[in-house]
Amino acid sequence: MTPARMPPDRAAADRVTAGPPPAADARPKRRLHVITWGCQMNVYDSTRMQDVLAPLGYAPVARPEDADMVILNTCHIRENASEKVFSELGRLRPIKQARPDVIFAVAGCVAQAEGREIVARAPFVDIVMGPQTYHRLPEMVARAARAAGAVIETEFPAESKFDHLPDSAAPAISAFLTIQEGCDKFCSFCVVPYTRGAEASRPMPAVLAEARQLVAGGAREIVLLGQNVNAWHGDDGHGHARGLGRLIRELASIPGLLRIRYTTSHPRDMDDDLIAAHRDVPALVPFLHLPVQSGSDRVLAAMNRGHTADHYRRLVERLRGARPDLALSTDIIAGHPGETEADHRATLALILDIGFAQAFSFKYSPRPGTPAAVAPAPVAEVEKDRRLAEIQALLRQQQGDFNRACTGKVVRVLFTGTGRHPGQVAGRSPWLQPVHMTGPASLIGTEAAVRIVEGHPNSLAAEPLPQPEELACA
Ligand code: SAH
Ligand code: SF4
Ligand code: F3S
Repeated sequence: MTPARMPPDRAAADRVTAGPPPAADARPKRRLHVITWGCQMNVYDSTRMQDVLAPLGYAPVARPEDADMVILNTCHIRENASEKVFSELGRLRPIKQARPDVIFAVAGCVAQAEGREIVARAPFVDIVMGPQTYHRLPEMVARAARAAGAVIETEFPAESKFDHLPDSAAPAISAFLTIQEGCDKFCSFCVVPYTRGAEASRPMPAVLAEARQLVAGGAREIVLLGQNVNAWHGDDGHGHARGLGRLIRELASIPGLLRIRYTTSHPRDMDDDLIAAHRDVPALVPFLHLPVQSGSDRVLAAMNRGHTADHYRRLVERLRGARPDLALSTDIIAGHPGETEADHRATLALILDIGFAQAFSFKYSPRPGTPAAVAPAPVAEVEKDRRLAEIQALLRQQQGDFNRACTGKVVRVLFTGTGRHPGQVAGRSPWLQPVHMTGPASLIGTEAAVRIVEGHPNSLAAEPLPQPEELACA
């Protein structure tokens, strides 16, 4: 979760497509620039918006200055995430002044939450569209060309966008696939149930069809996405609702699919079959992002998380029993209203007990319309800062220890692109650590065993294993 501007997907950018170049008359006539903030679901949605606009002749360009249409796909999760949208709109405004025909669209969770406010603050915006409306984008573009004011689509439509979006044109080697959207859990601090709507699962046949198509297009890893991905309960096509464990087993039988991941999970939805899938399905990576938010039962109750700290500890024990090499990542919030020093200490204790390989931690940010925003006993800003710093120091130390412990080990890496330096390839370990190595570009799109030579705070350096014939001579 990075409420920051996402770089373009390297894997997709680096893909070498086979076949003849497009005929001159098939070349894109219109240029599209998409800026994405927020979670992976927004990244997935941005690619789907590109897919839905491709038949209208829109092809991506790197700079908004060169575009005929600019889409800002936004995040509302914390205050600074929302504010970035308005400062970006201010920065982009001269483009509209110079070329009034350029279409500006604001999508995502800020659009859903603050539709009219956006038009009031940035009247040059042509389209404001909530996350469930992207299949209607071609129609909105046509309406925007005719309309005097902005086109605003923030209703939750009866039809599912997934039934109306076209297939993805060029999937990444590690491809996202949204299987579940929305949330019914209403944690005290969180805007997602309001911006993404009620929990809904895509049916299993639709998910499997999209997965097969992604693999046929070159994907080797599929990352299943959902705001509560392990609450997925899709129809199996025969009128039976199935759970995520079953879906993962079905996906694992797709030839050519090497890795499966899922995110983001809720501790309350981790059922027995899903835990068993971690034991039984080799393609399911030994890595799980399982947000806990706090280690204090008092705060967990105030957050409406529906579980205790010990429930989380026991759950992790069961998961590690099923998959002993499982590495965990989490989300933590520092300074939820009512959090005391003792509660904060309980969070540090939980972090120490679990030992996370990676984590995201945030200062509590009051969000309009959520219960925590009006809760008593808000924590002072300076106190939130201190607690967050302590949490982050501990998490950084755990991540560094985890990475250093990999030194000397042979691990399988899925290579997804080139590295930062010439001659380097880059990919991910099964535990999601970024790995770079000097090696041939032919490794990209494959999974190979390599030796880790150095564990850095945020990544691993590797070297190729000796070839079998070298081993034979050794
Ligand atoms: N569905 C996931 C989380 C989605 S939001 C879950 O249930 O865990 C991603 C993360 O943003 C959350 O896990 C939380 O740590 C953080 N977050 C959400 N709202 C926040 C707020 N108001 N202030 C600070 N962090 C917040
Ligand atoms: Fe937000 Fe809680 Fe739903 Fe996660 S489970 S999306 S934190 S309301
Ligand atoms: Fe942000 Fe919406 Fe995702 S608020 S985190 S983009 S669900």
